[in-house]
Formats: sequence, structure tokens, C-alpha cells
Amino acid sequence: MDTLTYADYLKLDTLLSLQEPRVPRSAERSVTLSEHFFVVAHQSCELWLKQIVADVEAAIDLLQPGRGPDDHVTSIEFLERAGELLRILLEQVIALEKLPIRHFAEFRPLLGTASGADSEQFRYLGELIGDDQRSGSLYETFASAAKYSGTSVAEVCRLGPSAGAYHRIAEALLDIGNKFWRWRLEHVTLVTQMLGGGTGTGGTSGAAYLMRRITLPFAELRQLRSQVHVDCAERHAG
Ligand code: HEM
Repeated sequence: MDTLTYADYLKLDTLLSLQEPRVPRSAERSVTLSEHFFVVAHQSCELWLKQIVADVEAAIDLLQPGRGPDDHVTSIEFLERAGELLRILLEQVIALEKLPIRHFAEFRPLLGTASGADSEQFRYLGELIGDDQRSGSLYETFASAAKYSGTSVAEVCRLGPSAGAYHRIAEALLDIGNKFWRWRLEHVTLVTQMLGGGTGTGGTSGAAYLMRRITLPFAELRQLRSQVHVDCAERHAG
């Protein structure tokens, strides 16, 4: 039997052949390398998004009505991993600040209308997480799971650590929401650095459009958690 190699297992031949800068071969090495950096950053974001979406979906499955305490604990592992991976995602955006703007200007016209706004995985993740106006299926499923067990998100927030797995799930959701929000903040920071007030390749107004999209997910959960201040004040007054 052939021994499986590291390169075979990871399909490195294929993976490392997928970065194709569009600048002509005659371009300066520094420009070609900058475009390579731009492509790698976007491709790795999409790879991590694939994992994050799968982890969030797996957590949602484990929180469905009828699932037991062990499933809930496993869902915490998925959710905490998704939060950690979102941190990696936002750090990749920060790394792109090291893209020299003069090199970006050289290859940007070759992008045509291609834009991160077309990222289907990002859009889908946004639907699962929700925004400040709308709860996504992640929060909805969590709230239903709590209800199914005879409690509520409000009660989980009130009890804190005594609510066990539900408390940890609530905290993991908050972390995911915060990281998703911070990704958008870091991204718009990068966009202003790279485009100033210029328009995007996807046809939007650029930073101004992106600024309007930055909202904090899990508004209800934030509100319910903050009730702890009221409860605490009442306890001290009484
Ligand atoms: C030099 C670096 C970057 C620039 C100048 C940039 C620019 C922009 C602009 C202007 C938009 C608004 C849509 C448009 O008109 O095109 C946008 C949206 C977006 N970009 Fe980037 N981007 C950069 C890096 C990245 C990276 C590394 C990712 C990771 C995959 C990414 C993912 C996205 C996503 C997901 C959106 C939609 C955001 C939302 O819906 O709020 N971008 N980008």
C-alpha cells in the first residue's frame, strides 16, 4: 500500500496552484507578490468561512427540540470554535493593511466587478447570526431550546453560570456576534485605508455603504443580559 504523504492528504498540488495573479508576467515582482497576498487573504477567508458556517450549522442542529444535555455541551464546542475562527478572520483583514496601496492601484482595475459583497458564505453566515433588527436562526433555535426545557433566555441571563450549558451557549453567541461586528469594523477600516471615499468594485459607495451595514447582532440577548444591573440594584436596595 502506498504511504499517504502530507501533500497528498492536503491536496497541496491543487491548493497551491489556485493563486493566479492577473497582473501580466512582465509586471514588477513586488506588484505580483502583492496581488498574490490579496488572493491568498481572500481565499483563506473563504476557507475559514466554510468551517465557521459548518460549525454554526452543526450547533443549530444540536440545539433542536428533543436534543439532550450532551448535545448542548457539544454545541458549545462548535460555537466557541466558530467564535475563535471569526477572530482569525478579522486578523486576516488586519494583515491586509500591509498591502501597499500603490501595488493595489496597479491590479485593482483587473478585478472588474468582482467584490467581497458577492461572498455567498459571508451572506449566509450573516443570515444565521442576524443583525440588530432581526434575530437569525442561531438565536431563534437557542431561544426555542431554552423554552423546550421549560426555561427562557431571560431566565438563563438572570441565573448566569447556574443555568449551566445554556449560560455558556448565551456567552458563546455573544462572542460570535461581537467578532462578526468587529470583522466588519476592521474591514471598513481597511477599505478607508485602501480606497478613501472611493466606490467599490461591486458598485456601492464603498466605506459609506459598509458603515451603514455595521450593526451589533443579538440585540435581545444583550438587552436581557443587561437586566442583571436592575436585579442587582434592587437586591442592594432591598
Ligand atoms: C484591499 C482589501 C479590500 C478592499 C479594498 C475591500 C473593499 C470592499 C468594498 C468597497 C466593499 C463594498 C462592496 C463593493 O462595492 O465592492 C466590500 C464588501 C465586502 N468585502 Fe471587501 N475589501 C477588501 C478585503 C476583503 C477581504 C480580505 C475579504 C474577505 C473575504 C472581504 C470580504 C468582503 C465582504 C464579505 C463584503 C460584504 C460586507 C458586508 O456585507 O457588510 N473584503 N469590500
